[in-house]
Amino acid sequence: MKHLIDINDLSTQEIDEMIAVAGDIIEHPEKYCEKCKNKKLATLFYEPSTRTRLSFEAAMYELGGNVLGFSEATSSSVAKGESVSDTVRTVGAYADIIAMRHPKEGAPVAAIRRATVPLINAGDGGHNHPTQTLTDLLTISREKGRLDNMTVGLCGDLKFGRTVHSLINAMSRYEGIKFVLIAPDELRIPDYVREEVLEKNGIEYVETTDLEGSMPQLDILYMTRVQRERFFNEEDYMRLKDSYILTPDKLENAKEDLSILHPLPRVNEISVAVDDDPRAAYFRQVEYGKYIRMALILKLLEVK
Ligand code: NCD
Repeated sequence: MKHLIDINDLSTQEIDEMIAVAGDIIEHPEKYCEKCKNKKLATLFYEPSTRTRLSFEAAMYELGGNVLGFSEATSSSVAKGESVSDTVRTVGAYADIIAMRHPKEGAPVAAIRRATVPLINAGDGGHNHPTQTLTDLLTISREKGRLDNMTVGLCGDLKFGRTVHSLINAMSRYEGIKFVLIAPDELRIPDYVREEVLEKNGIEYVETTDLEGSMPQLDILYMTRVQRERFFNEEDYMRLKDSYILTPDKLENAKEDLSILHPLPRVNEISVAVDDDPRAAYFRQVEYGKYIRMALILKLLEVK
């Protein structure tokens, strides 16, 4: 039985296959509408979510399956003190596959110890978010026609932003990728990402605080929200929250074929005036999230 806890649970070949399946789903949705008939997906969300939970649910419905679950821990037995491992073992009796989001880093690892069905990590604290990464990879591949040979700028909260950690990990596997890591000093990427992913694999990267100065070289600009819920105090958050705000004038020196991504939700970091720029890909990215999750469900349920 295969779970998806970390993006490293998937080989590059498996990722590329899923991107191809998602592309086929986009072109021929009718071929897939009964693939998961009589199957159930449980979504166990201990943390707020709009896109991740609803795209998983829409994905399962579009595959002809059904959905059950909770979107607030307070409405389940978790409120009585049940462990994630007991909850996941229980839900395995009712569902064929589980997507779980949890505020604690490593919670999915504890959860799979007694799991009887495949478990998907839909975000664990400030750690990982592999299905957002699959979404990002599908988006980049559809927007640019490739996943290699490009300069990827990541901007904002690179410390607590779990989507950033998983994305660096995944993109590092492709040829000719260079990262420009744009963040205030306090929100630089964690040491383990720098040492164990970038340095260990000899990936080219620079760390800077300068968004506008970096702009001309970027093929991808991945903006992120400052992760308020992971801060220890409100004062630090207030000081850092508007570190970067992307506005049309900051795009003046950007490449014409730049793609701007954001996992969303956006707070202030991209002005709504940017939304109509054809380079703004973040609402297309939302749609791709559903298709890649369809491909992932098919893969983990071993549906041909
Ligand atoms: C992200 C998350 O939950 O980590 N959102 C998402 O899943 N699309 C990004 C964020 O919350 O800032």
